[in-house]
Amino acid sequence: MPNEVTQLLNADPEGIRSAAEILRQGGLVSFPTETVYGLGAIAENDIAVARIFEAKGRPSFNPLIAHVADVETARRYVRWSETAQLLADAFWPGPLSLVLPVKPDSGISPLVTAGLPSLAIRIPEHPVAHQLLESVGGPVAAPSANPSGKISPTRASHVMDGLGGKVDAVIDGGDCEVGLESTIIGLLDEPTLLRPGGVPAEDIERVLRLTLKQDTSPDTLLAPGQMTSHYAPGATVRLNATTWDAGELRLGFGDVDCDLNLSPNGDLIEAAANLFHHLHELDGMHGDRIAVSPIPQTGIGRAINDRLQRAAAPR
Ligand code: TXA
Ligand code: MG
Repeated sequence: MPNEVTQLLNADPEGIRSAAEILRQGGLVSFPTETVYGLGAIAENDIAVARIFEAKGRPSFNPLIAHVADVETARRYVRWSETAQLLADAFWPGPLSLVLPVKPDSGISPLVTAGLPSLAIRIPEHPVAHQLLESVGGPVAAPSANPSGKISPTRASHVMDGLGGKVDAVIDGGDCEVGLESTIIGLLDEPTLLRPGGVPAEDIERVLRLTLKQDTSPDTLLAPGQMTSHYAPGATVRLNATTWDAGELRLGFGDVDCDLNLSPNGDLIEAAANLFHHLHELDGMHGDRIAVSPIPQTGIGRAINDRLQRAAAPR
């Protein structure tokens, strides 16, 4: 399918129908989820999935998350467990991805799993994502719809700016509510936090009545969310700034004087929703340096700090 022109589709039944048809024909569609915009292809179509990597310029050893409409569909592709059911009951649909053993005859493209014997799977809550997945009827592989290493998109214009001309269509569903990616939990042996995200790890620990093993180090996993430098704006990023240096673009949190504020009231949920919007906006100001206020390391604040540390990592 030619993709020199990217169609912008409305988030209505007609737009969703067109998007599903493009996917079924092996095309690439970016669609809104409650976390960030995804760049979708049918997960069983090797060529379509390969085009995701090409469009993003993404190293092909990074596995992708398969998105499905319901647990019944998920269970066709992965070996289900009691722990998976507990987490699905508590947090799906929502910003949580589970890594489970993939069934040998799943039909999922090995490009999606990067050849691993496991598959990351998630049921998004966003109504547009949900309707699209229902209409497709099977798993849609979708990383965040940004060029590899750049800031994740939280509105359709971010996708157009980063990948316009490289994808067949973008469904414009407005701003993403959560604003950063799903929490990833590995359920291959001990429940393990692989990436902090939209569901606070504490909430998962409460449901499972255990302490999650932590494995978010860059070496142990093949996760771009786990590559040390990621989500990077053009400028260098300085964290935990309690004073501002001359010439810095100032990204504040709480009651501080700054250029853009993640949450003037110090609300972490609001800060998460604003994080990538504000980083995109600061990126557009083409400064050399961005300084960021300290963010409390609790609840979704852990995911915010994780993304900020990656944005600040040396590249
Ligand atoms: O919120 C999200 O999760 C968004 C939206 C679009 O759903 N998607 C997203 O995808 O963030 P992506 O590709 O940017 O990040 C997927 C993460 C990567 O860190 C990848 O390595 C990890 O999931 N992952 C995928 N499959 C895995 C597996 N089998 N084992 C371990 N990690 C896996
Ligand atoms: Mg990403």
